[in-house]
Amino acid sequence: MAAREIQNKVYSVGAIDWDRTIFDALVPLPHGTSYNAYLVLGSEKNALIDTVEPVKKDELRRNLKQSGVQKIDYIIANHAEQDHSGAIPDVLEWYPEAKVVTNKKCKTFLQDLMDIPDEKFLVIQDKEVLSLGDRTLEFYFTPWVHWPETMVTYLREEKILFSCDFFGSHVACGDLFVKDRNLVALEAKRYYAEIMMPFAKTIRKHLQLVDGLDVKMIAPSHGPVYDDPKFIIEAYREWVSDRVKNEAIILFVTMHGSTEQMAYRLTDELLTRGVDVRLFNLLNADIGEIAAALVDAATVVLASPAVLNGAHPGAIYLAYLMNQLKPKTRFVGILGSFGWGNKMVEHLQGNLSSVKAEILPPVLSKGHPREDTWQAIRELADTIARKHQELEK
Ligand code: FEO
Repeated sequence: MAAREIQNKVYSVGAIDWDRTIFDALVPLPHGTSYNAYLVLGSEKNALIDTVEPVKKDELRRNLKQSGVQKIDYIIANHAEQDHSGAIPDVLEWYPEAKVVTNKKCKTFLQDLMDIPDEKFLVIQDKEVLSLGDRTLEFYFTPWVHWPETMVTYLREEKILFSCDFFGSHVACGDLFVKDRNLVALEAKRYYAEIMMPFAKTIRKHLQLVDGLDVKMIAPSHGPVYDDPKFIIEAYREWVSDRVKNEAIILFVTMHGSTEQMAYRLTDELLTRGVDVRLFNLLNADIGEIAAALVDAATVVLASPAVLNGAHPGAIYLAYLMNQLKPKTRFVGILGSFGWGNKMVEHLQGNLSSVKAEILPPVLSKGHPREDTWQAIRELADTIARKHQELEK
């Protein structure tokens, strides 16, 4: 992808990774991703904001050359993770006069991850400004979006916020600016869920910072640029709020079909009571899609058969992940079938200690589910529907 101007003398010079399918060996990327870097030309100094994943460094170099820039004075490192910082040593080689501008914590992380000597750094403080001549960069520390050192950079004159992961979406597309809002909002939600949801309360404060900045454009480091950023700011406001939807997510694993029958029966019972449901078979579900669903559903139901004397590892994995992501789930249900030993409830609950939700009475079936199980599932559906209604009062 060529260097493209997003504003007068502000260029997008990063790389699109069209066929990357997974991130952090964990998160599927159904639409690929991009590593956006931005070049800001001032009357006296030039700044490169973030870099790219090292495998894409040649593309960054081509784009910088194509922009016609002769020197880079500053490399702004908003975040130390390698998909944005990994090409910093290369840029320092290409432009030896450049200094890496970042906060103290980020400097430490960068030096942990790669060899950059002390003298190459210019350490800035929160709210510090840096003049490029006729243009001014302002730095705001936004820790835990999603690492402790993360910060954003604001180009004062153009009112552009360079937000790095914050507001980003894993979308590889040729659109410089957001055209398909539905796609970007969906992917931004997945991304928020996967890495930022555990820090929702902190992000709420960072949104206040954004509100106070008069932002006309948000240029994230993944996905297209927001030239009309109101919708993504409002979407984030909803995600970090305390509000939950009248929705239950049912996550099931099945071995011989009993647990699946229970999960489907609960789905029907909830739908007839006016509760929205999303059902996922954990055997082949997309973890990112589940994470996004966890952002605002009021209830999560884990359904598992017993393996030996406890829950199925697939269900344990999901419980562990949920515990890490800390969604604002209000109620957790547990369904399952077993043959002899049954420690499933203890195993699942033991992996949910960070989820501040009420655990509803579990429904367990010894062997094939029969009428007593269906009755228990109807009662569980009654309870979930009632509790959701109470939330709306
Ligand atoms: Fe896109 Fe936290 O790196």
